[in-house]
Amino acid sequence: TPRVFSGIQPTNHLQLGNYLGAVKRFVEMQNDGMETIYCIVDLHAITVWQDPADLKHATRELAAAYLACGLDAEKSILFNQSQVPQHAELGWIFNCVTRLGWMNRMTQFKDKAGKNAEKASLGLYAYPSLMAADILAYHATHVPVGEDQKQHVELTRDIAAKFNHDYGVEFFPETQPIIEGAATRIMSLRDGSKKMSKSDPSDASRINLTDDADTIAKKIRKAKTDPEPLPEALDGLEGRPEARNLVNIYAALADISPEQVIAEHGGTQFGQFKPALAELAVEKLAPISEEMARLMADVAEIDRVLGKGAERAAEIAEPILAKTYDIVGFVRSR
Ligand code: TYM
Repeated sequence: TPRVFSGIQPTNHLQLGNYLGAVKRFVEMQNDGMETIYCIVDLHAITVWQDPADLKHATRELAAAYLACGLDAEKSILFNQSQVPQHAELGWIFNCVTRLGWMNRMTQFKDKAGKNAEKASLGLYAYPSLMAADILAYHATHVPVGEDQKQHVELTRDIAAKFNHDYGVEFFPETQPIIEGAATRIMSLRDGSKKMSKSDPSDASRINLTDDADTIAKKIRKAKTDPEPLPEALDGLEGRPEARNLVNIYAALADISPEQVIAEHGGTQFGQFKPALAELAVEKLAPISEEMARLMADVAEIDRVLGKGAERAAEIAEPILAKTYDIVGFVRSR
């Protein structure tokens, strides 16, 4: 049976790319009646230094964002990773399955470690193996993510296949990345060649889910563009990454295709299109940030939701981990 799993790191505020590329899809899959498990991956967050108080705040804020965007703690399992020890335990097993050569091909490690990889943590290097454990601890089959996570989900398939092969079992399923729609790669508002990111030093490069209406409108007004009007046909966006990005954002926010955006707005100048986009963004995002602020006023309730979710998650992961230990040959007599 299909089972959906995905996760987001609790680092900084959620940005528009996370919302359109991930959370919005999470909500759709939940509302389609699929079995959905959504994690706040705090173990992954500490692969680079996190101030402890900031990490707690970001974890709760991400939980509030999940709920404010329409995830329902009854329909979906919502929890933070460190409350379910099976992630780390299965992660260790997978560290022993994964080959160094596979890890050396991971582009996100290269991006995040930068030039001085000697100073990166061992955890950052092993990150994709823990991500495979997140997914496979639930035997999840469908993983909605943005384009930048595709390589990690493909590695998850390799890890599952090697485990099954080495131990001669058909235990871990094949996992499918779900990367669909106009918003799988939202770009920076300041530079159409860089993806929008929580960690970009320029706050003007992204829209945060915590931004108020004025800030959202201002960032869109100041977004980098070229001087041409929007093209009359979609292929006119070729070689115009900033224009394409704004069209994609519009399409994803309005739940229409980029073709439809061009059909409605083709030929208009950015002086007209940007205010229309800003109005749409504020209409869709302002209620989310208001609801987040409301939820954040009751941290005890957020913690209760995460604890309950973690209990439900562990009920699924525990027997899968027990079986894994048995397959591997660990004696369990306690
Ligand atoms: P993270 O926290 O960097 O991002 C969370 C999700 O947002 C997507 N995303 C984007 N989508 C479109 N445009 C963008 N500019 C953009 N930026 C980010 C990401 O693709 C992701 O889906 N490794 C993961 C977290 C993770 C995970 C997992 C995901 C840990 N374990 C298991 C799925 C399954 C990460 O760092 O995402």
